[in-house]
Amino acid sequence: MIVSDLDHTMVDHHDPENLSILRFNALWEAKYRHDSLLVFSTGRSPTLYKQLRKEHPMLTPDITIMSVGTEITYGNAMVPDEGWVDVLNHKWDKKIVIEETSKFSELTLQSETEQRPHKASFYVKKEKAQEVMKKLSESLVKRGLDVKIIYSGGMDLDILPQGAGKGQALAYLHKKLKAEGKLPQNTLACGDSGNDAELFTIPDVYGVMVKNAQEELLQWHAENAKDNSKIIHADERCAAGIIQAIGHFKLGPNTSPRDLPDLLNAKLDRFDPAYEVVKFYLLLERWQRAEIQNPEHYLDYLKAVFSPSGAYINPFGVEQSLHDIIGSIKNCSGDKKGKQYRVWVDQVFPVQIDSDTWFVKFKKSEQTGEGQQCCFTTAILSSKDVKSSQGISWVHVHQTWMDGSTTSDGKNWFL
Ligand code: GLC
Ligand code: MG
Repeated sequence: MIVSDLDHTMVDHHDPENLSILRFNALWEAKYRHDSLLVFSTGRSPTLYKQLRKEHPMLTPDITIMSVGTEITYGNAMVPDEGWVDVLNHKWDKKIVIEETSKFSELTLQSETEQRPHKASFYVKKEKAQEVMKKLSESLVKRGLDVKIIYSGGMDLDILPQGAGKGQALAYLHKKLKAEGKLPQNTLACGDSGNDAELFTIPDVYGVMVKNAQEELLQWHAENAKDNSKIIHADERCAAGIIQAIGHFKLGPNTSPRDLPDLLNAKLDRFDPAYEVVKFYLLLERWQRAEIQNPEHYLDYLKAVFSPSGAYINPFGVEQSLHDIIGSIKNCSGDKKGKQYRVWVDQVFPVQIDSDTWFVKFKKSEQTGEGQQCCFTTAILSSKDVKSSQGISWVHVHQTWMDGSTTSDGKNWFL
C-alpha cells in the first residue's frame, strides 16, 4: 500500500511536463495495481482535490483521504467512511474554534471550500506561527476542546480534532483493513510538509520525505525520527522520490516502463496483460512524439499484436478493423512532435477468462495542450499462437468517452 500526499509529493508543481508522476503511473499500473492499494492523503478539500485531478495526470486511488485526514472515502464513487466521522466528533465544536480564532489578527481565513466540518484553515506568516499556535492551543483547551494544530508549507495553519490528521486516518485504515483480513504486507508513506509528519509515526510504516520536503518536515524528522532507518529523505523530487524509496526499501519492482529506452524490445518471460497495455500506450505516445528510432520495427510490432480479425469500436460508436487502424497510426507518426502530449492508463484490471484469453478494462487518457481526454476502454487480449516474447495479441477493443470528454476531431483519437 502506498499512502501519498499530493501537492509537491505525488504532483510536482514545478514540472510542467509531469514526468515523475507519469513514470510512477506507468510503474503502478504495470506492476502494482492488481494487488496493491493506492491511497492519496491530501490537505485539500474534495473541491480542490477534484480540481487537481483535472490539472495533472493523476491515477484514481483506491482510497482518498482529504482535508488533512478528516474525510476518508472509498473507490471511484468516493463513498464516505461514516465511522470515521463519529470518531472526529469527540471534544470538537467548530463554532468555538471560529470564535477563538477570530481573536487572532495574525490569522487569515483560507477560502470557503477549505473550511470543512472537522477542519478550520488559515494562513499565518512563518515568523508568527509558533507563537500563535501556542496561544491558540491554550485558549482552545480552556474552552474544553481537544484539538490538533498543524503548520504546513510555511504558510497553512489547520485546526482539527485531536483524533484527526493524516497519521490517525492511516492508523484507522490499518485497523479496518486488518479486521477485514486485508492488511497490506507493507505500507510506504510519502510526504513533503508538516501535515505529513504524522504519517511517519504509524507503526511498521516505511516513509519517504521527498527531496523537496519543506523545512518544517525536515526539522520534525531531525527532532523526532533521526535514527529511524525506515524513513528516508530521498534525493529525487516528488514521485521520483517515491520510486526511489520503493527500491531503497526493496518493496517490489522499481523500474518504470517509462524509463526503458528500448521498450519495443523489452522481453517478458510470461504473459502479462497489464504490462502489455502500459507498453502499448507508451509506444503510441512515443510514436506520435517522434521518439521511436526505428519506425519499421514499430509498425511490425503493431502488425504482430493486432489480430487480423480484430475489431475496434471507437468512442464515436464506429466499428473499424484493427488492421485498418495501423494505416491511421502510420500517418500520425510524429504529429505531436514538440507538443505537450502524453498518454497514460489508469485502473488497468485484467481478468483471465480462459487459458489464453484476458478481458482487460482500463481508462486511457491523453493530455494535449488543451486539456485531458479520457476513454473507458475494454479489450480482449489473447496469447494464442504468440510467444510471450512477442507480446500479446489484441483481439477486440471498445471505447466510451468518460467524464464528459470528447473531441470534435475524430481523426485525432486512436485507441
Ligand atoms: C491544502 C489545503 C489547505 C491546508 C493545506 C495544509 O493546501 O487546501 O486548506 O491548510 O493543505 O494542510
Ligand atoms: Mg504536500
